[in-house]
Amino acid sequence: MPLSNMDFEFYESEDPVWNPALRTMPIPGIRKMVNMAALQSDVIHLSIGQPDLPAPDNVVNAAIDALKAGQTGYTMDAGLPELLESLALYYSDRYQRPLTAENILVTTGATEAVYLALTSVAAPGRHFIVPDPAFMLYSPLIRMNGGEVTEIPTRAENNHQLDPQEVIDAIEPHTYAIVLNSPSNPTGTVYPKETLDAILEECAYRDIHVISDEVYDHLIYDGKEYPSVLGSCSDLDNVMVISSFSKTYSMAGMRIGWLIASQAAIKKLRRYHMFTTTVANTPCQWAGVEALHGHNTFVNDMLAEYTRRRDRLVELVEQTPYLTGYKPEGAFYLFPSLPEGVNGTNVALRLLKETGVCTIPGETFGSSCNNAIRLSYSTSLENIERAFERIIPWMKKQDFG
Ligand SMILES: Cc1ncc(COP(=O)(O)O)c(C=O)c1O
Repeated sequence: MPLSNMDFEFYESEDPVWNPALRTMPIPGIRKMVNMAALQSDVIHLSIGQPDLPAPDNVVNAAIDALKAGQTGYTMDAGLPELLESLALYYSDRYQRPLTAENILVTTGATEAVYLALTSVAAPGRHFIVPDPAFMLYSPLIRMNGGEVTEIPTRAENNHQLDPQEVIDAIEPHTYAIVLNSPSNPTGTVYPKETLDAILEECAYRDIHVISDEVYDHLIYDGKEYPSVLGSCSDLDNVMVISSFSKTYSMAGMRIGWLIASQAAIKKLRRYHMFTTTVANTPCQWAGVEALHGHNTFVNDMLAEYTRRRDRLVELVEQTPYLTGYKPEGAFYLFPSLPEGVNGTNVALRLLKETGVCTIPGETFGSSCNNAIRLSYSTSLENIERAFERIIPWMKKQDFG
């Protein structure tokens, strides 16, 4: 049986054996597209959600050295002390905010940190605000635990910026937290400090939490400084900040992330972490220590390469009939929209079948963006050029009104 059908049957199953909460998880659009693409030859992927550059040698060697030195056991539950200390120093320096190792929990990628942060607080009667489109984990994890979600739509015409007033207007008496992700997957949008300041000030005033997923915090273009929630909050009482090595150092498969919060919150989350994954991967935590202490050449070279690709992709999208783009300032995604009423899923499926270019349908990331597709430029400039040599003539033949 082809993979795509297997996936479909598993996720569609109404089998009473399964916890009904699993139904809040949508069929993963990314998996569906990538599995379908695997059945075709000569596919160009603009679908990839992880860096295509190899991890730096010093980082890989640190993991190998740790393995050879017998670092194959569990670490402390909060993480390898050397990594916790290194992260505390790194963040204190980066945002001029004193943090200690007790403010940090090392997790199995940012994914575990997102899971812990959301499922430890989502509960019936609690309301959450999430931008739309957004990384597909947030709303299902909240809903799985009985929480209620209001999604705030953003638009390509406005570079997918979040209007802080719209967020504040959506706050209800039972609002528990606001989830932010800047730079955003799938839009690449970076929220300016003013947006964060406005939201955080209101949240502190009303005792609402902010859960900020900052995994793309080093993928910021045009020489801009990254506005982190850590640079805008007055204390850590109401915030949880999540990040990982996955995107910054091409370490996605090494699975090391972390969560920053108040010491009291970290104590609670450590217990939950013990009941979830126990500890993160030990040799790769040593690789993380090396990443933080190594030089910045890797990150700078990566930024130069992604900037070239981003600039070319923006030009190509501008030349493509029916696509409305914008200039994303971070991450490695662009989320152009199609004319109102055109179904992005049909377009993505037809693009794959008829041109062999794999993109991700907008509806994977929320309900307000059925007429969008996500393009990833975590692939070579040559592949981006080749993809648009197929996409542009195909779009010219369409009649989307
Ligand atoms: C916004 C966002 N958060 C979290 C993650 C997960 O990162 P990790 O590989 O560290 O688990 C991703 C991965 O694509 C992401 O795009």
